[in-house]
Amino acid sequence: MSLTRQKALATGKIISDLCAKFVPHTPFSDLQDQFDLLLYRRRAELETGRSSEARGIVLIGNSGSGKSTAMSHLFNRHKDLARLEPNKIKAEVISLSVPSPATLKHVGMSCLNAIGYPIRRDRTAGIIWELLQSHLRERETLFLHLDEAQDLHINRNEREMQSVVNTLKSLMQNPMWPTGLILSGMPALKDLLHLDPQLSRRFIPIHLAPISFTTHGNILPEIVANYLAAAKIPIADGTFSSEFTKRLIHAGAGELGLVIEIIIAAIEEALLADNMTVGLDDFASAFRRRSGCVDDLNPFISEDYRVVDARKLLAEVEEDEADVLMPHARKRRRRA
Ligand SMILES: Nc1ncnc2c1ncn2[C@@H]1O[C@H](COP(=O)(O)OP(=O)(O)OP(=O)(O)O)[C@@H](O)[C@H]1O
Ligand SMILES: [Mg+2]
Repeated sequence: MSLTRQKALATGKIISDLCAKFVPHTPFSDLQDQFDLLLYRRRAELETGRSSEARGIVLIGNSGSGKSTAMSHLFNRHKDLARLEPNKIKAEVISLSVPSPATLKHVGMSCLNAIGYPIRRDRTAGIIWELLQSHLRERETLFLHLDEAQDLHINRNEREMQSVVNTLKSLMQNPMWPTGLILSGMPALKDLLHLDPQLSRRFIPIHLAPISFTTHGNILPEIVANYLAAAKIPIADGTFSSEFTKRLIHAGAGELGLVIEIIIAAIEEALLADNMTVGLDDFASAFRRRSGCVDDLNPFISEDYRVVDARKLLAEVEEDEADVLMPHARKRRRRA
């Protein structure tokens, strides 16, 4: 049966509302507290005319852990934070992704571009970053957020890395207008900060650590139930169990953001199939659709789901894996 326009619209509306939800978690509370401390201290200093070096925050997590989501939720919840807007000079926070290639010059140019001062390519990195400093001051920018900041470090030679370190330090230590840095990125970002103790001591680290049954076994059923309640569809009887929670965590590669994506995708499957409830089959369909893998490699179906690499797309079973994954199905297949 093909998807009708009406059903696509109704499902799209529910899913879009679910995607806009934010699940609070401990690292986010830490991020919020640290950001508020830095923000209010800096504002107090500006009011009294005092100035000290800026400090920064580094948010580290694997792909799908929820770094970009946490950062945008952090900035959006601060209604009094001046954000970059057309026809407004003041921008207390400027947020952008590190561009590719992540050379110092290209990153500086992208920052200038983001704040509305495009510059010719033939300027040196030194001039570009000096200009950026003065525009950050003009816009009263307290924090510069760079997402995907691990790219500042990966594939750079030693000289380039030292220039990156010096440039980041000089932004925070600028005597006229120190700008706080917020860097978010994959674990390789730690290596950049470790290059220089003067840089690392200026950052507060926050880790979006992988989740496990031990850390999230109790809370995940509650998270699933909240998403289902928001979509107004109940869970199928007998779906919740410790085994289900473990399979869900595994299917999301142990990252909270990916687990949430799978929960939403399972709800979408149920809505599209006109199911009255969301059950294990919908979770299995959601995983099948997003990974393109065969059922033997589906964590909601496979008997030994722990050997499945949930991040692999279009995975197929290797001959030597088959017995481990589906021993009973294998025996059945042999008998047939
Ligand atoms: N706290 C949360 N509440 C609800 N949804 C979340 C939360 N954190 C992450 N997500 C969802 O998880 C998915 C992955 O999150 P996000 O893109 O922020 O991860 P990331 O760490 O930035 O990944 P990458 O390194 O690949 O950019 C997104 O679909 C996002 O909506
Ligand atoms: Mg991201």
